[in-house]
Amino acid sequence: MTTLIFATNNEHKVSELQSLLPKDIHMITLREAGIDIDIPEPHDTLILNAEEKAHTIFKITAQNCFSEDTGLEIDALQGAPGVHSARYAGEDRNFQANIDKVLLNLKGIENRAAQFRTVICLIWNQQKYYFEGICRGTIIHENKGNAGFGYDPIFIPDGATKTFAEMTIEEKNLYSHRQKAVTKLLEFFTK
Ligand code: IMP
Repeated sequence: MTTLIFATNNEHKVSELQSLLPKDIHMITLREAGIDIDIPEPHDTLILNAEEKAHTIFKITAQNCFSEDTGLEIDALQGAPGVHSARYAGEDRNFQANIDKVLLNLKGIENRAAQFRTVICLIWNQQKYYFEGICRGTIIHENKGNAGFGYDPIFIPDGATKTFAEMTIEEKNLYSHRQKAVTKLLEFFTK
């Protein structure tokens, strides 16, 4: 049995991860580990933020752990909001305000291509490992669906006909950036 602490306070990410990990990987959430801190994300790249989050939890627990950082990268906005996805419209990290800002910035622009990119940082036996997952798709013109979180209501992954917010977690997992990064993490443990 492999035990890993998942360095996040985001319950949506915890649910997605729980549905992806096999039974022989035991994931402990921060809440289960009794850790109640706001993990810093001070950097300009997903990789450095993922590393910072994992390292913060490793310093507290000295246990194997992993974190992930994700951004929505929109082609016509030169990759914005990217690493600033959570706070695109302000420090209060309001999902709808972030969506409204994306839609405003894309007003009149035909190219709606975008991608979610996830970087996982694993600290395993005191070594760091990184895994990336990308999901390409399209930004639609208004919210559709109520499931999920963040930008899910305005993102249709390539190959699908509905937004992430209209999908169950299992359906989202068929396409998602997070699933692709986790698949690489699992390959690491089966090697
Ligand atoms: P972070 O990795 O927690 O910093 O995530 C940054 C922001 O990206 C979140 O606050 C969400 O708004 C957005 N985000 C991350 N993952 C997803 C996803 O799977 N779907 C939609 N939005 C996401």
